[in-house]
Amino acid sequence: MNRRRVAVLISGRGSNMGALIEAARDPSYPAEIALVLSNKAEVGGLATAKSAGIATAFVDHKMFAGREEFERSMERLLEIHRIEFVCLAGFMRILSPWFIRQWQDRMVNIHPSLLPSYRGLDTHARALADGVKIHGCTVHFVVPELDAGPIIAQAAVRVHDDDSEATLAARVLAEEHRIYPEALALLAADRLSIRGNRVVTLPARPGVS
Ligand code: GAR
Repeated sequence: MNRRRVAVLISGRGSNMGALIEAARDPSYPAEIALVLSNKAEVGGLATAKSAGIATAFVDHKMFAGREEFERSMERLLEIHRIEFVCLAGFMRILSPWFIRQWQDRMVNIHPSLLPSYRGLDTHARALADGVKIHGCTVHFVVPELDAGPIIAQAAVRVHDDDSEATLAARVLAEEHRIYPEALALLAADRLSIRGNRVVTLPARPGVS
């Protein structure tokens, strides 16, 4: 099977990255994690990736004159590693329309809310403050508008009466770790069709997972 080469972009502990690496250990998984790229040095995610034997790169956004120079440097690395798909996994830099266009329909993100609710930061605290009873996470294609883009997968969790931000975040994170590998598998197997704002899952082809 021709496994598709994926880069995971991180800025921190990389637990979603870890879930993707774990899923890709299965030889029948249609993607391999070929590169983990961080814009922060010495984050937990880089150590996890290295110990899993995955190529890692650190591109310090502070070293560049502007967003575009930083992104061109990332782009070069993605080319060198022959990357076909990009997964953002807690990557906390805003990407320019130029970079997003380079990866149009080939770059996905995980966000800790049921989009389009709670775009941006502090999603769990805001959900608790609003008193919502259902919260969750979303995997979506990346478009220039922040935390928007066609939705591939979502998972909902119940908000408990005694939830704190930490307990709610933990319950959502467990679902993130479940749906992100599932969504990447569909993407890498060419089983996602974008129709306007909707993503339709195509049936598996016989003999292809
Ligand atoms: C995850 O909860 C992810 O959904 C969130 O950051 C966390 C990263 O954790 N992403 C965003 O908020 C993006 N807007 P991880 O490094 O352990 O995967």
